Amino acid sequence: MNTRHFLTLTDFNSAELRQLIARALELKAMHRRREVYEPLKNRVLGMIFEKSSTRTRVSFEAGMIQFGGGAIFLSPRDTQLGRGEPIEDTARVLSGMVDAVMIRTFDHAMVERFAAYSSVPVINGLTDDYHPCQLLADMQTYFELRGDIKDKVAVWIGDGNNMCNSYINAANLFDFKLHIACPQGYAPDAAMLEKAGDRVKLFTSAEEAVKGAHLITTDVWASMGQEEEAKQRKLDFAAYQVTPALMDIADPDAIFLHCLPAHRGEEISEDMLDDPRSAVFTQAENRLHAQKALLEFLLT
Ligand code: CP
Ligand code: NVA
Repeated sequence: MNTRHFLTLTDFNSAELRQLIARALELKAMHRRREVYEPLKNRVLGMIFEKSSTRTRVSFEAGMIQFGGGAIFLSPRDTQLGRGEPIEDTARVLSGMVDAVMIRTFDHAMVERFAAYSSVPVINGLTDDYHPCQLLADMQTYFELRGDIKDKVAVWIGDGNNMCNSYINAANLFDFKLHIACPQGYAPDAAMLEKAGDRVKLFTSAEEAVKGAHLITTDVWASMGQEEEAKQRKLDFAAYQVTPALMDIADPDAIFLHCLPAHRGEEISEDMLDDPRSAVFTQAENRLHAQKALLEFLLT
C-alpha cells in the first residue's frame, strides 16, 4: 500500500515541500479571485481532535468545503475513542468511510499507530512532538513576503517544544539556518539537535540569537497539556519575551511569526502583534491555503 502520510515534515522531501508552498501560493491567488476549484468533490476528511483548536479545525474544514468535499469533527468526548476503542480498530474503521484523517493529539506515537493501520492518508494536526502543518503555513508566509528562505537565518525563541522541533525539520528541508534561544532545561530533543549539525545553533541569550536574523518566531511558554507548569515557566522564560526592541536587533527586513494563540505580556509584548514586522495574521490565513495544497497533493 502506497498511502502517503504527513506525520512530520520529513515524510516529504525538499522538492515536494517546495512544490507544496508554490501550490499554496497559487491556491491563495485563486481563492482571492473567487475561482471555484473543486478537486475533492464528495471526498471527506475525518478530523480527530483530542486537544482544543481554532485555526487547525477551521482551516481544514473550510479547505475541504472550498474543494467541494466535507470534513467531520470527531472528539474523544463523543466518539468511542474516548471510551477506549483501540486506535488500530478506529483507523481501520475510519479508513473505510473517509478519504483522509487529520489527528490532533498528545502522544506522537498515537498518530504513528493510527497511520500504520490506516489505508487513507493521515495528517498530523499537532502532537506533543511536532506541528508540521503550521510549518507549511510559516514557510508559505516567508516565501510570500520575502522570497526564498534558503540560507536565511530563522530564530526560535522560547520553549524547545513541538513547534521548535518542526522548525528544526524545516531548517534541514528548506535549507536555512536556525538559532534557538531557550532557557536551561528547555532545549529541544538532543538527538534532533545533533542530527541537524551546524545548521542549528543553541543560544541562551535571545539578543545574541536574533542578531541580523531574517525570521523571528516564538510560541506559548506552556503548551496544551502543560497547564500545571505555567507558573514556573513564566519565571523561567521571563528573559525570552519578543518585543519590537528585540526585533530591532534583527535584519531590518526581518518578519515576526507566531503560530497563535498568543499571550500578550508573556512570550510577546503587548504591542508585538501590531508592529509592522509582524505577519502573524497572514501566517494564520495561510494555514488554509497551505493545507489545501497538502490535501490536493495527498488526495488527487
Ligand atoms: N496554530 C494552531 O495550530 O492554532 P490552533 O490551536 O487554534 O489550531
Ligand atoms: N506549542 C503549542 C502550539 C499550539 C498551536 C501547543 O502545543 O499547545
